[in-house]
Amino acid sequence: MTAELSPMDKAKYAAARRSVDFVEDGMKLGLGTGSTAAWMVRCLAERVKTEGLKLTCVATSRRTAELATGLGIRVVPMDDVKWLDLTIDGADEFDPHLNLIKGGGAALLQEKIVATASDRMIVIADAAKEVAQLGAFPLPVEVIPFGWQTTKALIEETLYSLDVLNREVSLRLDRDKPLKTDEGHYILDLNLKRIGNPRQLALVLNQIPGVVENGLFIDICDIVVIGNGDGRVTVRDINSGMVEDVAIDVAQTVNIFADLGD
Ligand code: 5RP
Repeated sequence: MTAELSPMDKAKYAAARRSVDFVEDGMKLGLGTGSTAAWMVRCLAERVKTEGLKLTCVATSRRTAELATGLGIRVVPMDDVKWLDLTIDGADEFDPHLNLIKGGGAALLQEKIVATASDRMIVIADAAKEVAQLGAFPLPVEVIPFGWQTTKALIEETLYSLDVLNREVSLRLDRDKPLKTDEGHYILDLNLKRIGNPRQLALVLNQIPGVVENGLFIDICDIVVIGNGDGRVTVRDINSGMVEDVAIDVAQTVNIFADLGD
C-alpha cells in the first residue's frame, strides 16, 4: 500500500497505533468496531505476528470478527471469557469527562456489553471527535423491530421533559430498508444537537419499552487516545489525570498495511 492517506486516516492510524502499546501478552481483549478500530485491529495483528503475542479477543461486531480472524488474531465468543482486561474502540464523540456517543457503526449494543465487562476501556479517535458537550452527533438508540414506531413515539414524548436542544428522531436506513444490527434490531438516530444531562438521558431511554440500549457510554471509558493528521497523539487518562503527547511516524509505518478497507 503506497497511496497517500488522508489527514483523517493518518489521525485514526496514529491513535490506533499508540493504543496497541497498552496490549500485553496473555490479555483478554475487546476489539471495537468502525474505521478507527479497524486500524487498531491491523496494528494489533502486526504485533501478534512480529512478537508472537498470545491474545484472546472478543469482537464487537461480525465485521470486526472477520477482519481480526482474517489477520490471524484469535477471536472467541464473549461467553467463553465473560470478563476482559481491556477494550479498545472508537467513538463518535467524547466529552471532557470521557463520556461518549457511540453507535455510528450500528454496533453499540455489543460494544457496550464488551466495554462494560472490561477492566479498562480505551477510546481511539481523531481530534474532531472531541466536544465540550455531547449531542452534535445524532445519538443512536437500538430498538426491537416489533412496534418500533410506538417506541419512537414514546422516545419523542420522553424527550420533551429532558434537557436537549432538538428532538428529531429518525429510523436508520440501509438503502431503502431499515438497517438491521448484528442482533437483528433497528437503530433510531436522535438528532438532539445538545445533550444537557447525558447520564439522565441514558437512564431514561433505557426505561422505554422496545429500547434495547442507547449509545451513551457514561463512566465506561478510562483513557482516550487522540490522533492528529500529522501523527501527533495525545493520551489522556481520566483516572490518574495523566496526559502524554507523543509523535507517531505515520508516513513510514502505514506502508506495512496492504488493505485499507473497513
Ligand atoms: C460503531 C462505533 C464506532 O466506534 C464509531 O462510529 C466511530 O467510528 P469511526 O472510527 O469509523 O469514526 O461506535 O458502532
